Amino acid sequence: MKKIIVNGPCKLKGEVIISGAKNAAVAILPATLLINGKCHLENVPNISDIRAYYEILESLGAKIDYISDNEVIIDNSNVNSAIASYELTSKFRASYYLLGALLGKFDKVQISLPGGCNLGARPIDQHIKAFEKLGATVEVKNGNVYASRTNRLKGNNIFLDVVSVGATINAILAATLADGNTIIENCAKEPHVVDLANFLNSMGANIKGAGTDTIKITGVDTLTQKSSYSIIPDQIEAGTFMVAAAATCGDVVIKNCIPKHLEPITSKLIEAGASIEEGNSSIRVKMSDRPKAFSIKTMPYPGFPTDMQPQMCVLLAICNGTGIIVESIWESRFQYTDELAKMGADISAHGSTAIIKGVDKLYNAPVYSHDLRAGAAMVIAGLIAEGKTEVYNIEHILRGYENIVEKFKKLGANIEYIDDEALQGDKNA
Ligand code: EPU
Repeated sequence: MKKIIVNGPCKLKGEVIISGAKNAAVAILPATLLINGKCHLENVPNISDIRAYYEILESLGAKIDYISDNEVIIDNSNVNSAIASYELTSKFRASYYLLGALLGKFDKVQISLPGGCNLGARPIDQHIKAFEKLGATVEVKNGNVYASRTNRLKGNNIFLDVVSVGATINAILAATLADGNTIIENCAKEPHVVDLANFLNSMGANIKGAGTDTIKITGVDTLTQKSSYSIIPDQIEAGTFMVAAAATCGDVVIKNCIPKHLEPITSKLIEAGASIEEGNSSIRVKMSDRPKAFSIKTMPYPGFPTDMQPQMCVLLAICNGTGIIVESIWESRFQYTDELAKMGADISAHGSTAIIKGVDKLYNAPVYSHDLRAGAAMVIAGLIAEGKTEVYNIEHILRGYENIVEKFKKLGANIEYIDDEALQGDKNA
């Protein structure tokens, strides 16, 4: 069994370099399917979700040249199938971007219904609505999604009933090579949506308005890459280290980040009493006292990101006073609060609201990662708790955080990654 062991408490100190954004990379990798020829990508995070995406692309016929841990050249010229393996695509959520990308090139596409973190109901009705508006036929049957078209997709007006990152990205992917103009309204404005549009535009796409409510796309015939593309830094990884710095009363410079993307987090940390210094591509977070209480409500960007909610909850768990978190995106995102309670946190979570009464200290306990961000929250809790905290189910964490153990170690944490199966293998060797 894999686990992370943290011996706390500690005060984080030093510098950490943020990796490329997972949620941008999982959109850009399938987008490479739209390109004629090779595509050179830099700052790609080396995490299990991305390795899974490489495997899917290779299973479809792509040739990938792994230049380094974070740099690849992908050649999709030999991709001649749009039937993706159930086993590979059912593992994670972002496999649904294959639908939009492959529909740009192929008449018939098949993937499994997407998996991913268990955060409550995760419908894809808005993705389907977008594909249908562009002229595709979509059927969901036996755990698979079948999408087909008889002609090239045709531009249209698409109004998304809910602000959805995934549906916005899938609509962009499908409309890029469609015939004519597409207008997508009520779009998600997350940095990864903008990064995907920048990536596609850098190769000849005509996408305007990404980062606003309305995106206008004029379909083009082909896309070709002229120079390599570097993926933006990960907003949530940066935010996770910012909260970890504040929770441990540390002093950390977070490098290779985009401070503008971090404003909702910065503003809450200032309310909590942290001192923040912003550079062009760095943020220094310093905290000297126990955090003051604050409240958050998760919202689509530029609101407070739901993917930072569990980490912030750890900060509130030790605050001076009572904080409130209202989760407005995912209905089951408070499952992790039971794990924090094992460590002494005083949290009452009902429906979409959690009330957190700050305690003086957290104590060690064996805890489980319910999902990717909850797992990161458990690691932060381990950093501030007295004693040895064992974090299980860390496969979730490894999906989205590159070298998390090494990065915390470099900041002075007493933290270790244990793989019992590998140890057993060594003993048997
Ligand atoms: N929704 C619908 N219908 C749809 C699509 C979404 O009702 O067709 C609803 C969802 O149920 C949810 C809301 O719309 O209540 C927002 O969902 P969205 O589609 O924006 O989420 P997503 O695209 O599935 C991405 C991130 C998540 C992040 C959310 C919200 C990726 C691969 N995933 O998910 O990231 O929580 O946006 O910001 O980009 C993570 O990285 O840990 C993670 C879970």
